[in-house]
Amino acid sequence: MSNLAGKVAIVTGAARGIGQAIALRLAADGADLALADLKTEWLDDTAAKVRALGRRAECFAVDVASSESVNAGVAAIVAAFGQVDILVNNAGITRDTLILRMTDADWDAVLDINLKGVFLMTRAVAKPMMRARGGAIVNVASVVGVTGNAGQANYTASKGGVIALTKTTAKELGSRNIRANAVAPGYIHTAMTEKLPEELRAQMVKLVPLARPGEPEDVANVVAFLAGPDAAYVNGQTIHVCGGMVM
Ligand SMILES: NC(=O)c1ccc[n+]([C@@H]2O[C@H](COP(=O)([O-])OP(=O)(O)OC[C@H]3O[C@@H](n4cnc5c(N)ncnc54)[C@H](O)[C@@H]3O)[C@@H](O)[C@H]2O)c1
Repeated sequence: MSNLAGKVAIVTGAARGIGQAIALRLAADGADLALADLKTEWLDDTAAKVRALGRRAECFAVDVASSESVNAGVAAIVAAFGQVDILVNNAGITRDTLILRMTDADWDAVLDINLKGVFLMTRAVAKPMMRARGGAIVNVASVVGVTGNAGQANYTASKGGVIALTKTTAKELGSRNIRANAVAPGYIHTAMTEKLPEELRAQMVKLVPLARPGEPEDVANVVAFLAGPDAAYVNGQTIHVCGGMVM
């Protein structure tokens, strides 16, 4: 039997990239999937791939930055599946520019989705997880939330916040048998990084001792570990998945 058999996992931002890879890896480990993204039709590809692995997949339109949308979405997920065992807060955006040029709207959009979204989703699943007497939350942060990065004031602040929020969640909910951990990816080959200039991408690979960008599956493997029983005594931690870029 797979180690997530009988578990229900929510993955936000599951339409593509790292979120899709996480959904497929959790499904391969036996979990049923509640897939969340801004539009349900964007999730069709991920849902078909989860079902091809023999697991149940349902799609939910959730804007993680809106408490109304999050609360309605999690209520619909609990109604559909009857339980929530795993939450992966993966949805995230960038709006990169230097501090001097960064608008209030650039700051707010990134903080609302990347940081407030994690809080709203965590708050919404806390009660169903408490009723189930356990759960696992995995937040997708970033190495730049630890190191900082020129041109990403909003993004780095949001990801540093996610790491701190992960620790607080671990402390508040640990006694209810709910664990919270984070992964901090480095340079991963996805649509988010595809839009960066070729020269910058080449420079980034030079900083990676493993001399290649990570693949979404590299991140998904570590998320599956943190979500599963092998990580039963791992709580409040951030695991860097960056090929040694930051150490
Ligand atoms: N790609 C990298 O190199 C890298 C590195 C470090 C961290 N990350 C983090 O990994 C996560 C996934 O990144 P990716 O590269 O796969 O990005 P991506 O842009 O390919 O996918 C992000 C997904 O989130 C969804 N999304 C955006 N706003 C949303 C909202 N308000 N509500 C619900 N869903 C929303 C998008 O529709 C999309 O499907 C993000 O949190 C990102 O910050 C990525």
